[in-house]
Amino acid sequence: MAVVKIPSDNITLTDTQDVTTFLAVRGIEYERWTPSRELPADATADEVLEAYAEQVAALKARGGYVTADVIDVKSDTPNLDAMLARFNREHWHDEDEVRFIIEGRGLFHINAGTSVFVLEVGRGDLIRVPRGTYHWFDLCAERRIRAIRLFQDPAGWTPHYTDSGIDRGFQPLCFGLAYLGAMIQPHP
Ligand SMILES: [Fe+2]
Repeated sequence: MAVVKIPSDNITLTDTQDVTTFLAVRGIEYERWTPSRELPADATADEVLEAYAEQVAALKARGGYVTADVIDVKSDTPNLDAMLARFNREHWHDEDEVRFIIEGRGLFHINAGTSVFVLEVGRGDLIRVPRGTYHWFDLCAERRIRAIRLFQDPAGWTPHYTDSGIDRGFQPLCFGLAYLGAMIQPHP
């Protein structure tokens, strides 16, 4: 489940209600989803979308999302570093960034204006980051994430980079269960 860290205040939130409230105040929706049936590890993208069809349909109706797909990233994904380099610089989008994590973990840094907070997401977490929010994204040490993405624009994921350089002041270290592993295996 999601964890929030506010480095400037040395605060970490791990309680689901605390995390949900903290994010809601900042306009970010957080939910936990469970599949309609147990999914095998090798489930296809279509099987994944079918297992969460009810939740995806409800979210589409609520947020005006027109397409949904499944992104699947592993440590041996070709050109992974080039792909990550598109995510891990501060940027914003003209549409909401909606992710539901099926497998693996990821780290969002969100620039809330007065401070930056960190949101680690994992299996079962849905987040909806409003359009225009400054943020950047990294994988955790195991470099694995599989997630449903929803889009308002059928053209898909389009970043606008701020080039502020603020992202360079933060270490992309995940702090969940694999925190120790992340320390032993430095993030590339
Ligand atoms: Fe983004």
